[in-house]
Amino acid sequence: MISRNHLEAFAALDAAEVVGVCDVDLGRAQATASAWDIPNAVDSVAALLALGLDIVSVCTPHPTHEAVVLEAARAGVNVLCEKPIAVDLASAERMVAACDAAGVKLGVLFQRRFWPAAQRVRSLIDDGTLGTPVIGHVSVLLHREPSYYSADAWRGTWQNDGGGVLMTQAIHYIDLLQWYMGGVSEVYGAINTFKHGEHIEVEDSATAVLKFTSGAIATLSASTAANPSVGVQIRLTGSTGATAELSEFPEGTDGRVTLMASGQTVESTPVHPPEAEANVDLTSINGQLVPHHTSQIRDFVEAQSAGTEPAITGRDANNALRILLAVYESARTGTPVRFAPFPSDGPTAPGDVAASAPSSV
Ligand SMILES: NC(=O)c1ccc[n+]([C@@H]2O[C@H](COP(=O)([O-])OP(=O)(O)OC[C@H]3O[C@@H](n4cnc5c(N)ncnc54)[C@H](O)[C@@H]3O)[C@@H](O)[C@H]2O)c1
Repeated sequence: MISRNHLEAFAALDAAEVVGVCDVDLGRAQATASAWDIPNAVDSVAALLALGLDIVSVCTPHPTHEAVVLEAARAGVNVLCEKPIAVDLASAERMVAACDAAGVKLGVLFQRRFWPAAQRVRSLIDDGTLGTPVIGHVSVLLHREPSYYSADAWRGTWQNDGGGVLMTQAIHYIDLLQWYMGGVSEVYGAINTFKHGEHIEVEDSATAVLKFTSGAIATLSASTAANPSVGVQIRLTGSTGATAELSEFPEGTDGRVTLMASGQTVESTPVHPPEAEANVDLTSINGQLVPHHTSQIRDFVEAQSAGTEPAITGRDANNALRILLAVYESARTGTPVRFAPFPSDGPTAPGDVAASAPSSV
């Protein structure tokens, strides 16, 4: 499914050429190679790495990410991994450590950070319009047909998917929230399954309260049980009193930013389509994300050539993962999960996120 976005992105870059495609199902690899005019189709990562590569894109199911990333790192190949980096923190940390030890770059896809609207919200923080974000609100109320979960055996199980709406959909917006608001210090959460229990054992709905090392607070609600989908809204109120809202409706369309600041004209761009269909199929959602996959993949290719860090690293991805794992832990125990303080957690530094995991999660 999402490998198409990577193939579109690489095809758009002069500096990159796709030399091989790998799938444990060789027929799928061959079909993709034939459709995209790729010279090699293989069914093992070893055979892929033997082609002599600079970068591997990992677009496999969640729990398989680690083995592919470790094998690529051992071969000295830079890795661009789809979200979530892994389904548990120990696995994610092994991936970061292996890439560090091998001296290869590890990037993780959170392409919504490349929306112009998401960058605009970041600049409203950086230029002082919002000041330090003090109150955050994230609402991810989406629609999924039961067939979404029943089509692939790996979806909807704790072992293979690692979680439900938090792990698969909300993680993108949790990443944005921590990018804007900085390191998290405490999480209290609850999960439940309201609609898709026939097909999944994981949650289709979740809610959480988050405290940040800056003292800021935020709430999160996420579900795939909404019908129609109401899309995504991320609202940030800053220490200046100004509020910025980043919204995505219908799901998959570019984010829109609305700024409410005293003495300033209300800004709202771009405008949502007036008669948009709320429930969007997955192929169309993924298709609309291609330009942003392309931006992030371009950034990774350039970082690889220049020897610099990519915009979104494995460590960034671990921060998003540990927040959602803390929601699961809190839901399980009925108590808040407190994160150990990190040297990088500055009290007034939004965006200055923690570099490693707490022992408590
Ligand atoms: N960034 C985004 O917006 C976005 C959107 C959709 C999916 N994703 C992520 O992309 C990843 C893949 O999701 P998908 O929906 O494309 O999955 P998919 O099921 O459509 O494709 C996964 C493919 O991986 C193959 N595979 C399984 N194990 C393998 C292994 N060890 N080595 C090689 N191939 C293997 C399968 O045969 C299958 O063809 C997941 O991590 C998912 O969360 C990201």
